[in-house]
Amino acid sequence: MPRIAVAEGDGIGKDVIPVTVRVLKTVRPDLEFFPVELGYGRWERTGEAITPAEIRAMKEADAVLFGAVTTPPNPEYRSVVVRIRKELDLYANVRPVRGGEADLVIVRENTEGLYSGIEEVGPDRATTLRLITRRGSERIARFACGLAKERRHLTIGHKANVLKADTLFREVCIGVAEEAGVAFREKFIDALCLDVLQHPREYDVIVTENMFGDILSDVAAYLAGGLGMLPSGNIGETHALFEPVHGSAPKHAGRNTANPVAAVRSGAMLLGHLGDRVSAARIEDAIERTLAAGVKTRDLGGTAGTVEMGDAIIAALGREIT
Ligand code: NAD
Ligand code: IPM
Ligand code: MN
Repeated sequence: MPRIAVAEGDGIGKDVIPVTVRVLKTVRPDLEFFPVELGYGRWERTGEAITPAEIRAMKEADAVLFGAVTTPPNPEYRSVVVRIRKELDLYANVRPVRGGEADLVIVRENTEGLYSGIEEVGPDRATTLRLITRRGSERIARFACGLAKERRHLTIGHKANVLKADTLFREVCIGVAEEAGVAFREKFIDALCLDVLQHPREYDVIVTENMFGDILSDVAAYLAGGLGMLPSGNIGETHALFEPVHGSAPKHAGRNTANPVAAVRSGAMLLGHLGDRVSAARIEDAIERTLAAGVKTRDLGGTAGTVEMGDAIIAALGREIT
């Protein structure tokens, strides 16, 4: 029986993850869920946002379902989610964007770039090193090309005209794509951010370094109806963690107003990763039918609460035509 570590985290993580667990239990009553407590709330209470015990628990699970954590802009505080991605070596951040004319996947390098952690804040000068390595670029390029082979083509998003580090990222991505026989093109990341909104059909798999992929995914969320809609998988060789692209959205926390679709879709991705593509597709289909029936949260112009949206998705799962 697969064991799933559940880290609700902070803010709306505590609203959308319980809904997601209910949906997952509906389609897969055999799954075992166990809680992992971490985040800013825990730090405020205990002085520790996460300890080695939680890292170990997540490593021992078959997959992790993650909500969101609050990260204050404080030089003393280290982002919990970035730490987990590094410690579990979840090098590929996979962010499918579907909706309207868009059907694309952002593949974001997840362990280096501007998130290298090599940084220093002095009184008058602060630096963060944007680390690009051949190994890091090669493995993300291979991952993206593997996906592009199953789908259509690859776009490499970079800024190699200005950033010397990106000449290495670009060269490695092109080499891997050529070797894999994947159709590819390249685009400067700033131009890409606009073009993806204007011509979404022209994009399929997009590979970028860490920070570019972070920004591009919030930009592209526009195509899918907003941040409440975008799921993600953080994938490594031995571990995997699934979380909505959005954060802890404190304004919505505990108010039953957050859209749970991004989290529920992340749950569907988790099942797909465990090899259960049928259940993943069932959940996606139930979400589509729920939205088509006009049940929507406020961010989508509806009136449903977080819990009611979850209830409607579960009800749709019960109305399948087989
Ligand atoms: P955010 O994604 O939390 O929210 C931005 C805005 O998007 C919200 O104010 C809300 O209007 C909307 N939104 C996001 N998710 C929604 C949902 N499910 N339903 C309805 N509306 C939704 O980004 P932020 O405000 O920049 O960051 C808040 C906190 O979250 C920060 O502390 C940040 O560091 C953290 N964060 C964490 C993660 C993560 O844990 N993976 C990701 C992003 C941000
Ligand atoms: C995301 C978030 C995180 C990131 C933050 C909270 C560390 O914005 O998952 O997109 O920058 O990766
Ligand atoms: Mn982000």
